[in-house]
Amino acid sequence: MRCIAVMNQKGGCGKTTTVVSLAGCLASEGHRVLVVDMDPQGHATLGLGIDPEELDENLYEVLAETPETAARLEEVIVNAATNLDVAPSGMILSALEQKLSAEGARGRTERLSSAIERLEEPYDFVLVDCPPNVGVLTFNALRAASEVVVPLETSYFALHGVAKLLETVSLLEDRIGHQLNVRILPTMFDGRTRFAKRALAEVRETYKDLVYDTVIRQNVRLREAVQRGLTIADLDRRSYGFVDYMSLALEILFDRDEELQELVSSITEPDPEVQVDGSDKGVVFTYKDSRAGSVQLAGDFNNWVPDLDVETRSNPDGIWEKVVRLGPGVYQYRYFVDGEWRPDPSNPRRVEGPAGGLNSVLIIS
Ligand SMILES: Nc1ncnc2c1ncn2[C@@H]1O[C@H](COP(=O)(O)OP(=O)(O)O)[C@@H](O)[C@H]1O
Ligand SMILES: [Mg+2]
Repeated sequence: MRCIAVMNQKGGCGKTTTVVSLAGCLASEGHRVLVVDMDPQGHATLGLGIDPEELDENLYEVLAETPETAARLEEVIVNAATNLDVAPSGMILSALEQKLSAEGARGRTERLSSAIERLEEPYDFVLVDCPPNVGVLTFNALRAASEVVVPLETSYFALHGVAKLLETVSLLEDRIGHQLNVRILPTMFDGRTRFAKRALAEVRETYKDLVYDTVIRQNVRLREAVQRGLTIADLDRRSYGFVDYMSLALEILFDRDEELQELVSSITEPDPEVQVDGSDKGVVFTYKDSRAGSVQLAGDFNNWVPDLDVETRSNPDGIWEKVVRLGPGVYQYRYFVDGEWRPDPSNPRRVEGPAGGLNSVLIIS
């Protein structure tokens, strides 16, 4: 079980959008995900289609008392979608902040971590949405987490805040007694402005490997998804929002696999060996098989519909070229050859697909 807290004391930088969208993408890849909504505003709960005001119980019941008397997480968890549950928030969580601080209550920053430890059936991922301040609720999130994602808005200059935030995290590491793996996620990127490009370059230069390769672009569909209570994976798989958060999901999934980790960080251009050639006409996938009668291409870029939005050029020597327009991102794909799914024989980069079998992975930056 990997517990990831999404934290930044600045409001409106994309924390909740990141939690909900990442959760949707990981769940759609077949991973069991729990979203823990630690923000009294309850935006993540709402974003997953659940109205906190209509619930009788929420995280308050889990966190307000010591583990011996508190409710268990299972008692408040609500199912939001396939593979995706939420431990809902409620306005009353803001009272908890005061209650616990005033009481100097015992183990008051360990309540969430012990509730997660007591889960009978662990999840693959627990994603914690933090409120926009560093108080008892955020402390609880960081104690429970081993990884922290810091969304950073690239549409304006926010670097100063990051330095402070990283300082805060490293101070907290001492107090909570374990290391946190902190990564920065550039969000709301608008590639049309020179300012945003400069801001992104500066973030990368300053924080180097701490910054994800993935950049979340501005995309209205993300706003719409949260408003409609659907994750982007359920609303629109053709949107930039989905592609970007799926790319983040894959980066996070690969993070633990050293070989793939190396791969992700070493690849900055499509590898010529893979027979993928980026040109302004699109990305060219090449498949050689002189006996194949029909070769189609499917991937997350076309919602796994063979040859949807794919231009095909074939020649009598059995060289099939598939042209797809793709922006930067991490993509999974397979060929559909005479009715059978096959990973790309010329691409060594493969991952287990959610429905079984191997998918090929392509990274375009
Ligand atoms: N990549 C994006 N493109 C467009 N709008 C976004 C994007 N990320 C977030 N938003 C919108 O910006 C606002 C703030 O985002 P939110 O995720 O709620 O931030 P936080 O949780 O840090 O306060 C919301 O209205 C959200 O829909
Ligand atoms: Mg929020």
